[in-house]
Amino acid sequence: MEMGTIALVFLVISTPFFLPSSLALSLDGLALLEIKSVLNDTRNVLSNWQESDASPCTWTGITCHAGEQRVSSINLPYMQLGGIISPSIGKLSRLQRLALHQNSLHGIIPTEITNCTELRAMYLRANYLQGGIPSNIGNLSYLTILDLSSNSLKGAIPSSIGRLSHLRLLNLSTNFFSGEIPDFGVLSTFGNNSFIGNLDLCGRQIAKPCRTSLGFPVVLPHAESDEAPVPTKRTSSHYMKVLIISAMCAMGLALVIMVSILWICLLSKRERASRRYKNIKKQFYPESSTKHLTGTKLITFHDDLPYPSSDIIEKLESLIEEDEVGSGGLGTVYRMVMNDRATFAVKRIDRSHGGSDQAFERQLEILGNTNHMNLVNLRCYCGLPSSKFLIYDYFTTGSVDDLLHENGEEEQMLNWSARLKIALGSARGLAHLHHECSPRIVHSNIKSSNILLDENMEPHVSDFGLSKLLADRDSHVTTVVAGTFGYLAPEYLQSGRATMKSDVYSFGVLLLELVTGKRPSDPSFAKEGLTIVGWMNKLVREKRLEQVVDRRCFRDADAETVEALIEVAARCTDANPEDRPSMKHVLHLLEQEVITSPCSSEFYESHSDH
Ligand SMILES: *[C@@H]1O[C@H](CO)[C@@H](O)[C@H](O)[C@H]1NC(C)=O
Ligand SMILES: *[C@@H]1O[C@H](CO)[C@@H](O)[C@H](O)[C@H]1NC(C)=O
Ligand SMILES: *[C@@H]1O[C@H](CO)[C@@H](O)[C@H](O)[C@H]1NC(C)=O
Ligand SMILES: *[C@@H]1O[C@H](CO)[C@@H](O)[C@H](O)[C@H]1NC(C)=O
Ligand SMILES: *[C@@H]1O[C@H](CO)[C@@H](O)[C@H](O)[C@H]1NC(C)=O
Repeated sequence: MEMGTIALVFLVISTPFFLPSSLALSLDGLALLEIKSVLNDTRNVLSNWQESDASPCTWTGITCHAGEQRVSSINLPYMQLGGIISPSIGKLSRLQRLALHQNSLHGIIPTEITNCTELRAMYLRANYLQGGIPSNIGNLSYLTILDLSSNSLKGAIPSSIGRLSHLRLLNLSTNFFSGEIPDFGVLSTFGNNSFIGNLDLCGRQIAKPCRTSLGFPVVLPHAESDEAPVPTKRTSSHYMKVLIISAMCAMGLALVIMVSILWICLLSKRERASRRYKNIKKQFYPESSTKHLTGTKLITFHDDLPYPSSDIIEKLESLIEEDEVGSGGLGTVYRMVMNDRATFAVKRIDRSHGGSDQAFERQLEILGNTNHMNLVNLRCYCGLPSSKFLIYDYFTTGSVDDLLHENGEEEQMLNWSARLKIALGSARGLAHLHHECSPRIVHSNIKSSNILLDENMEPHVSDFGLSKLLADRDSHVTTVVAGTFGYLAPEYLQSGRATMKSDVYSFGVLLLELVTGKRPSDPSFAKEGLTIVGWMNKLVREKRLEQVVDRRCFRDADAETVEALIEVAARCTDANPEDRPSMKHVLHLLEQEVITSPCSSEFYESHSDH
């Protein structure tokens, strides 16, 4: 009996290893393959959608719910996909985000899509979709974003859209919709911007009465049927032709512009890459080299500092209080101006900190070897009898913290696109530390005051790896520096041990800070006993996402990227470290979901090859 049970258990445990893995592809995976089968993938971007995989979660453009094998989003904008949207999309019942904009899809929007009841965002902009909007789209009660602009959709606007109480962005512009726009529910809240270029639409929202000039009511197609009827006969077909031709001209022009932007992007990327891989040179000035430098050690990394060591040491020794630009738990930061006006940031670490000099220098070696355009690279280390100094590049623009919180309301320097650039650049820097450095480097102190900006608003992550440099080797506990509190993952606070996953959490908090413009300790949620993460989760639960966005960049913040950024932040700040994505995955998500211009998606692909 017992043997039988054991054998059975063994059989059950071992079965998956004996089965051919093709049988293991999840139902969502199979549905995706059906979707792929009717797409025309000219650029072969879906080549890793393979039946032999067990899970579709690693496929291009696919994201799954954390810890489950269910598909949560499809992100394939700007992929030159042709073909149609398969009705099998209805099998992805946990789908929350569908982004297929800027492709060449034709055919209809399948009614089955209303089976995806968790759908929050649907981007089908700029395709060649025909037919109408499924009449029971009102079933998608979580829908927040519906962008169907620039297609060939026709028929009436289903009144069930009015039931979508969470809908915040509706764009039906440049299609061939006709009839009266139902003036009911949430549909009453959208203005003419949502309906541009639909010549046969009328209604209060676009200030166009549904009456002929003679005072007779025109036919109101939506009254007869919501089911996307054939549009009323077009009387102005000549006008339409002119319109179509000019639209095509405009598209041609846009294409030319896109190609040139792409070209510039590639060029500058190559330039950046070549800059990144400059040789690392090191110079040692042993203690005995100069007489008056006894007890002194100078190590330079990367490009040599073009100054004699005596100059550097002299400057370091003459740093005074007035040069101070900041202080953290790890030491004081000074601004050091050389005789040729070149400026550096100097971190002074008191001798009392840190363990043995040997361990310190080994860790320094690791830090000095990191080199990435989104990191503040260590230029030089100098050990004097009194203190240790770390010399870094100096960034005049200041930190994200300065620009986000220190400036007045009217300050427009950090608009939405600047914030996206900061999010993406910082993710690149951190992903480099976590995944490309050997040994891997845990930052352990990610916060907005540690993200420095250069004059092009390109972010540079600073202060990485320092706590390890200074950590007491016996107790792993690093001192929690004031101002860092709100950024720390719950398990880090408990154990005092920083990990890559606690870095990911801190990065998620940084993303929230960028979106909301609020410090993690802002009184508005601290009053309610919430952290920024708890506050955001509450608003998400209550479907009040639009209240999250910083008012100062409301004008250029588009719902699409806001939604995607918050989603990434939510995954980063998952209470369970295991469910948080890796930094590499975060970067992937940001590049795929947030930055969807053709320029950057192209950038990502060439990037992912190595
Ligand atoms: C796929 O697209 C290419 C180029 O757009 C076209 O030549 C080809 O006929 C299409 N294939 C199918 C099966 O539609
Ligand atoms: C709708 O979803 C259910 C599961 O939630 C699934 O069984 C059904 O096949 C789906 N319908 C269509 C038309 O895809
Ligand atoms: C969706 O809409 C259809 C018809 O519009 C209705 O019959 C069906 O019950 C709805 N489904 C859900 C889950 O609300
Ligand atoms: C759209 O509506 C706004 C105000 O609601 C109005 O100022 C603007 O002129 C309208 N634009 C068009 C093209 O009708
Ligand atoms: C809708 O799309 C059109 C054209 O793509 C754009 O001009 C308009 O600003 C968009 N409206 C909204 C509300 O996003």
